[in-house]
Amino acid sequence: MDTATPATKPNVAVVIGGTRGIGQAICRHLAALGHHVVVTGRDLDRAAEVARHIEQDGGIAASGRVDIADRNGTRAAIDAVEAEVGPIGALVVNAGINPEYTRAERLTPEAWDDLMAVNLRGAFFAIQAAAVHMLARERGSIVSISSATVALGVPRGMPYVASKGGMDAMTRTLAVEWADRGVRVNGVAPGYIATDLTAGLRANEGLSSAIEGHVPLGRYGEPDEIAGLVGFLASDAASYITGQTYIADGGWSLV
Ligand code: NAI
Repeated sequence: MDTATPATKPNVAVVIGGTRGIGQAICRHLAALGHHVVVTGRDLDRAAEVARHIEQDGGIAASGRVDIADRNGTRAAIDAVEAEVGPIGALVVNAGINPEYTRAERLTPEAWDDLMAVNLRGAFFAIQAAAVHMLARERGSIVSISSATVALGVPRGMPYVASKGGMDAMTRTLAVEWADRGVRVNGVAPGYIATDLTAGLRANEGLSSAIEGHVPLGRYGEPDEIAGLVGFLASDAASYITGQTYIADGGWSLV
């Protein structure tokens, strides 16, 4: 056995959108599991800083600039990882935005397109770019970060919820299409997690305590509480799991 690439761990793991929040926690966790992590984001300095911290903690990391809305740039970055870092064993698509909470009747085509360009179109073409290499080797694990909102009706949730619902459908479809080629595709759907994305909600004391009161575990989740599930799905420990999206929401979607 090649000890540099243990059978239970893909060697190179690329995280799209790894500069902060859940993505940064995923990068750190994958590094702790022994992956060579490639931290990517629109801000190269921030990606490099996360990579530096991982190395200070004894992990192996590289960084690169990726704007997931830029299909050609994303593909070029993934090809560069393959050429310069090594074969990609795991891809985590974490990049996601939810810039406004607008009533559906006021939603503009521009707002729809800008969000879909990142959350759904961008996610698909990032997956496609990595999958081309994984399929050729008949080995790879892809994990997308969805949202527990998909299981619910969420006022002012468009187009975010639709983008994540599309992602879950994409996960199932790609999983079936690529199952005979050694590539697994899964998702993780967080509930309310304490990150910049929910900073506005958390700043509103009334709204925040209503949210916490509605979550059976009684609090927001932490980014690390999502990272563990991603690490599991990325690894060979999940070798019989494909096409699933797992909810991690403190029980929120059950009540
Ligand atoms: P965040 O806003 O703190 O981080 C988002 C990450 O995506 C950042 O690293 C950002 O740079 C990156 N990103 C955004 N647009 C990008 C682009 N065009 N190209 C490359 N990277 C880009 O958000 P958070 O909370 O860490 O969210 C991470 C994922 O988890 C997102 O997909 C989000 O939809 C999802 N999520 C978050 C929840 C929460 O409560 N925080 C709940 C459910 C899902």
